[in-house]
Amino acid sequence: MAVHDRIIVKSRLNRRFFVPNLSPNIIKRHSIGKKVKGLLLTVQKLIINGGKRLRGELSLQGAKNAVLPILAAAALCDGEVTLKNCPRLSDTYAAMRILNSLGRKTTFEANTITVDGAGISETQISESLMREMRSSVIFLGAVLGKTGNCKISLPGGCDIGARPIDMHISALKKMGAVVTESGAGLSCESAGRLKGAEISLFFPSVGATENIILAAVLSEGVTVIHNAAREPEITDLIYFLRKCGAQIEGAQTGSLVINGVERLHGCEYEIMPDRIVCATYMACAAAAGGDIVIRNCRPAHLTAVTPVFEQMGCAVHSLKNTIYFSSGKRLNAIDIVRTMVYPGFPTDAQAFVMAALCKADGASVFVENIFENRYRHVGGLRRMGADIQVEGKVAVVKGTPRLFGANCSAPDLRGGAGLVAAALGAEGRSEISSVRYIDRGYEAIEATLSSLGADIVRV
Ligand code: UD1
Repeated sequence: MAVHDRIIVKSRLNRRFFVPNLSPNIIKRHSIGKKVKGLLLTVQKLIINGGKRLRGELSLQGAKNAVLPILAAAALCDGEVTLKNCPRLSDTYAAMRILNSLGRKTTFEANTITVDGAGISETQISESLMREMRSSVIFLGAVLGKTGNCKISLPGGCDIGARPIDMHISALKKMGAVVTESGAGLSCESAGRLKGAEISLFFPSVGATENIILAAVLSEGVTVIHNAAREPEITDLIYFLRKCGAQIEGAQTGSLVINGVERLHGCEYEIMPDRIVCATYMACAAAAGGDIVIRNCRPAHLTAVTPVFEQMGCAVHSLKNTIYFSSGKRLNAIDIVRTMVYPGFPTDAQAFVMAALCKADGASVFVENIFENRYRHVGGLRRMGADIQVEGKVAVVKGTPRLFGANCSAPDLRGGAGLVAAALGAEGRSEISSVRYIDRGYEAIEATLSSLGADIVRV
């Protein structure tokens, strides 16, 4: 299905919805309401009857946080780009729509995205496209680096904190861009190519590091980024760009040296597996109990997460690209889980690890150091009977022997995954609404969990 094949569906109340990431078959299977243009509607919820052990195998999807910057990077290439192992997510479709709006044609067949070799014909990204996701901001560096111009409005995304882009902007200014900020947007211009610069980040921001890399690869001269983020998705972006002819040294270190080149060609590249989705299914099996095998993963990306599950009493065995995970008895509490930049414990894994610990034997403490608004799943967990106190960046989870199904709403992407994990381990029926947040990061989560024996449907 090409990305421009928009699926418009209508509700019984005659309201129209744009559903970008679902195949017509999925819509038909789970829909209620009237048929419109051959398609049916749904306001979607996940219904979970908890208490079933998970058993079976899954093959991990490609990483959302890698495919998005790599799609932005495709805008820099003169030549066709083929990306394999792309996850079918609403955020992936949003990035493709941005590329389309810039003049690049994209297609998505099975899990392969192809971006045609035409140049960029547009340098402005519309407000509606920018609002669809936070990662739209990394198109700024790519479009500016390629054309010397870019106009955007401020990005949307999950509401997990203030998420400023001050580091992105000051770096682009250092590279010679003239940035004009108006209330809702930014306009950036450079006279000719951007200039290489020495940039020190006060915090190793993932998005700022990506934006600077994307702006620097076609710039004139050498750019050095000190205190760069080291997340594996950044390394994936660097490997992709190198395959297209970019000169970047220092991958996996906090110091990147980028020697600007005049042009990049296209290439074929396989997106890395999603380490956060891997940790999510481990948390689901920890919460519900189970024995699962996760294939096509990179255990080396989970060195801060695996020991936490082991301390909880789960067995985690890694063999090449496979993780064998089992959890049976009541989980142990964890003294303290602190979220940190990579290679520390990821903020993106905090919500579902907390969900698994709600039934642990004892009290666990979480310290959220990356985002200031990342405990929004706590309300839903409490509805299921969890005992959690939050004070600023600290949350204390006192384990209770049982959780009970409840109706709640996904507050954001990972918080929504946390509620799913908790519901799988709860007794009785849960309804989780606002599934659109979960769909931003998980490819057909209900199909994967059903294949493991969970009682979960999308309605
Ligand atoms: C990325 C990930 C997200 C993950 C996060 C942290 C993608 C698409 N998203 O988000 O899943 O949770 O990294 O691992 O890859 N900050 C500033 N000024 C800036 C930029 C950031 O103060 O200019 C602050 C943010 O407010 C936040 C912290 O730095 O407190 C980390 O943000 P950042 O690493 O930039 O996260 P994102 O790139 O938004």
